[in-house]
Amino acid sequence: MKLNIAILPGDGIGPEIVEQAMKAVNAIAEKFGHELTYEYGLTGATAIDQVGDPYPAETHNLCMKSDAVLFGAIGDPKFDNNPKATVRPEQGLLAMRKQLGLYANIRPVETFESLIHRSPLRRELVEGANFVCIRELTGGIYFGEKGRKDNGNTAFDTNTYTREEIERILKLGYEFARKRNKKLTVVDKANVLESSRLWREIAQEMAPQNPDIKTEYMFVDNAAMQIIQWPKNFDVMVTENMFGDILTDEASVITGSLGLLPSASIGIHTSVFEPIHGSYPQAAGKDIANPVATILSAAMMFEYAFGLMDEGKLIRDAVAASITKGIVTEDIAEGKSFKTSEVGDWIAGYVAKAK
Ligand code: IPM
Ligand code: MN
Repeated sequence: MKLNIAILPGDGIGPEIVEQAMKAVNAIAEKFGHELTYEYGLTGATAIDQVGDPYPAETHNLCMKSDAVLFGAIGDPKFDNNPKATVRPEQGLLAMRKQLGLYANIRPVETFESLIHRSPLRRELVEGANFVCIRELTGGIYFGEKGRKDNGNTAFDTNTYTREEIERILKLGYEFARKRNKKLTVVDKANVLESSRLWREIAQEMAPQNPDIKTEYMFVDNAAMQIIQWPKNFDVMVTENMFGDILTDEASVITGSLGLLPSASIGIHTSVFEPIHGSYPQAAGKDIANPVATILSAAMMFEYAFGLMDEGKLIRDAVAASITKGIVTEDIAEGKSFKTSEVGDWIAGYVAKAK
């Protein structure tokens, strides 16, 4: 099969983790006889520095003509502490999501048996936890009207959702639940927010049309608590943009490290695969960052963008083997730790040697 990929390494540790994922992608292409072509694009602070725009038109065109996008990370501390900066790296990510119509961000939360002891939760709570968070990605407060008034002394961000946006994400939630354990938890704040009341109203309309799925409603504050108290009670969770951002960071740490969780952003145009963690600038260039979340994002790319399930599975098996054998970076190492590039080499080597 022809695999035509856009690679957007971005900022901080982005380039080094994407490089490790590409080692695995190359090994897979070789092993399964796929014809791989790829091209690099600029994004984030790197793109601001070079061309003054965090998501240049050239990068967008590259994404549009590719079959999948592998994305590293975005963000640079030089912008974080400057509230007056007019262009920010994060705007590049948001522009990419919006322009590619990536309305759903799929974030699977899974544990690795050999890492359970690193979870801040007790073993019996987290062992076997396995759920998917579907985060709405192109609406809500991230994209609503925002601004200042009263000479800059009042600021506002608006949380707007349309019926169409809510219906399409809930529909996807039901499709995921149908392929899994048939439970959908709709997370909102319908006791306070009008936008959440529309979410709940629409979910209540759709629930009877999906009688094979158990629809459950949960306020976001309660969900934040339940994720750490009973993570095994979730199967598929669907929620708006900002709630999903916050809850998935929380969910990621129960697995033992933020460096492990991949994501897929899917929607209208080319899908984007990226780790859920950020650009970890303190580690940039040091060859210490955990590449696993990005390598697992590449596994999701094979599965979601190309329907190549065996390829995805082999990458997952390679990652699981590396963790079991302790070929891991310092964030999850017990004794000896390995460099980012060594972990990448080992995982690609496992793929190459697999029968
Ligand atoms: C994420 C990130 C982004 C978000 C930032 C970098 C804009 O935290 O992908 O979760 O908030 O969506
Ligand atoms: Mn986030």
